[in-house]
Amino acid sequence: MFDFKYYTPTKVVFGRNTEGQVAELIREFGGSKVLIHYGGGSVVRSGLLKKVTDALDSADIPYVTLGGAVPNPRLSLVYEGIALCKKEGVDFLLAVGGGSAIDSAKAIGYGVTNEGDVWDFYDYKRKATACLPLGVILTLAATGSEMSDSSVITKEEGQIKRGYSSDFARAKFAIMNPELTMTLPDYQTACGCADIMMHTMERYFTNGGNMEITDSIAEGLLRTVMTNAEILVKDPKNYDARAEVMWAGSLSHNGLTGCGNDGGDWMTHKLEHELGGLYDVAHGAGLAALWGSWARYVYKDCLPRFRRFAVNVMGVEPVGADEDIALKGIEAMEAFYRRIHMPTNLRELGVNPTEAEFADMAHKCAVGVNGAKGSARLLREADMLAIYKASL
Ligand code: NZQ
Ligand code: ZN
Repeated sequence: MFDFKYYTPTKVVFGRNTEGQVAELIREFGGSKVLIHYGGGSVVRSGLLKKVTDALDSADIPYVTLGGAVPNPRLSLVYEGIALCKKEGVDFLLAVGGGSAIDSAKAIGYGVTNEGDVWDFYDYKRKATACLPLGVILTLAATGSEMSDSSVITKEEGQIKRGYSSDFARAKFAIMNPELTMTLPDYQTACGCADIMMHTMERYFTNGGNMEITDSIAEGLLRTVMTNAEILVKDPKNYDARAEVMWAGSLSHNGLTGCGNDGGDWMTHKLEHELGGLYDVAHGAGLAALWGSWARYVYKDCLPRFRRFAVNVMGVEPVGADEDIALKGIEAMEAFYRRIHMPTNLRELGVNPTEAEFADMAHKCAVGVNGAKGSARLLREADMLAIYKASL
């Protein structure tokens, strides 16, 4: 077991109609001029944005709005948001949407409070020293960005997708009403479930420092998401299933399932980020498409964890050789992806890279991790290339 810090300062307000509390929460955290940041329009169509602006109007809280955060949110809109906040004297950010709107808001918050080019942080050139305070109304259970320290932005020039993490960007509050996720297309719901599970799996498949309490929480979370993801395939309006998945999404990426271990593997995410940068695929689907190839490439180097996953999460019978049990666990995970209509390879994802594109992704990925990364198995550029190719 390793020493750890667990810091989750976000006030969670969970349940039906909780978005009605947005004005008082902004006041509680000192906001006096707000940027409401959202995505491509789902919050306009659902009426949520109107509810939020009405609530702020009633509370006499001035605001400006900026929509347009796309999946794999772009740097150009972040620049636009920074300029708008500076011009309008915004002192509080309210992201209304999924991970893309939240991440874009975090980047805007860095840009307003730090001198110079905000991309420097995502390019690992320097560290942020502040961020504007942020509140969230979540409409998609997936990334955990509502409680995480991370923000992932894509720079259009060079199609580079990079993450930056710091506690400054952790949301002050997160409003989570599971009903708000009921307008999601089924595909996005499933992508969200895949992403949620992967945030815990990245922390689970490690070669160092595991704690029984952390493992038990992780396994319980994974089983819960699987059960409820399958319920939602048949019954998308099931409130309880939506609620289970939504809360799992936050717990999966707020640090809880990493306490005591070595920080996690994270290579499936790193490999996916290159895919998202180049092909603009949905993050959760990209993860599902790559995971099986990654798992088969690394499982022998992390056998006790893969065996335990197979038995405790996937329900594989613990008979026979450890390697066979581990492989059955990987197959069972892929069978689950199929049941929720997620891809298990790049073709199913609708992507067919050329040799040059494979090499480009592997190279960018290696640069993005400073040469090598991974706890289940340390991967370098040649390994990354092999996993990409195996996932076709
Ligand atoms: O843009 P709108 O019109 O709102 O539509 C969105 C978008 O098309 C739609 N949507 C969201 N809520 C909806 C809805 N449609 C109907 N009803 C609702 N209630 O869903 C689509 C996807 O939204 P997006 O925010 O892009 O999805 P997600 O939450 O999966 O975020 C993905 C981004 O987050 C990054 C990913 O890489 C990707 O860029 N990640 C961020 C992390 C973090 N900050 O901690 C960690 C993750 O690992 C991930 O990398
Ligand atoms: Zn993710």
